[in-house]
Amino acid sequence: MQANRETEPQLALATTTVARPRPEECATARRIAAEMGCPYWPRASLDKTCADLDGLLVVERENLALWIAGQRFCYHPNMAKLRVCALQQQRKDALIDALQIAPGASVLDCTCGLGADAIVASYVAGPEGRVLALEAAPLLALLVERGMASYSLADDPDLDLAMRRVEVRRADFATYLRKEADAAWDVVYFDPMFDESIAHARGLDLVRCLARPGGPEPADLHEARRVARRRVVMKDRRPGRSLARLGFAKVEESRRVCYGVLPAW
Ligand SMILES: C[S@@+](CC[C@H](N)C(=O)[O-])C[C@H]1O[C@@H](n2cnc3c(N)ncnc32)[C@H](O)[C@@H]1O
Repeated sequence: MQANRETEPQLALATTTVARPRPEECATARRIAAEMGCPYWPRASLDKTCADLDGLLVVERENLALWIAGQRFCYHPNMAKLRVCALQQQRKDALIDALQIAPGASVLDCTCGLGADAIVASYVAGPEGRVLALEAAPLLALLVERGMASYSLADDPDLDLAMRRVEVRRADFATYLRKEADAAWDVVYFDPMFDESIAHARGLDLVRCLARPGGPEPADLHEARRVARRRVVMKDRRPGRSLARLGFAKVEESRRVCYGVLPAW
């Protein structure tokens, strides 16, 4: 097990609401405070108290926003929209080709992040399929779970539905996999935060700030192969050094990333 696996960024957080909140927004802010183990501060008391904070979670009318160092972060599904558009035009998606999934498939995404990959997989798996996305970083899991439930891509209802179908769970894949039954999912997928991907991440600021670093160990992959009915897939930056180190066979490559496969046991 990696040394940093149990270490989350220890942010001093509080929750609050927008000015003139509705009662239900105060209730949500209190609930989130309890869930995250941080204080709830009524908006009116903020000026006096927030100097010592690293981050502030603000329950807005439509969103949950995280303020860190004067920057506002809010959930967005990253590249999922463009990628689903491409699939609708019968163009290829390297992840889907690597996962080899079709309607009805079940996918365990061990590294949710902003969930763009999970949304694309959910779009392809359809209403008969299932996508569960695990996220170890508590703040990220909170923002993504709430964001996926409310974010709307108004011009593409199919995409909205695909996003709503993704189940997000705050969990460490190392723990989750060891408790999961044999052959429980068609495909188990990893897109880890290798050091390289942290250094190069663009458009993933929220993930970069909050994510848990590191990737699966050989023992985790052993469990993943037991849990997968068909295959285990991992994404890596080109040229795929982590794939090679962990024994994956490279199957798909695009300009910046590549995918590898391990067969199920
Ligand atoms: C590169 S991001 C994934 C991006 C994602 N594929 C997407 O499309 O948005 C990797 C994510 O995995 C999470 N993660 C890292 N280690 C984990 C673990 N042991 N269990 C669950 N999630 C983990 C990180 O916190 C981070 O959010």
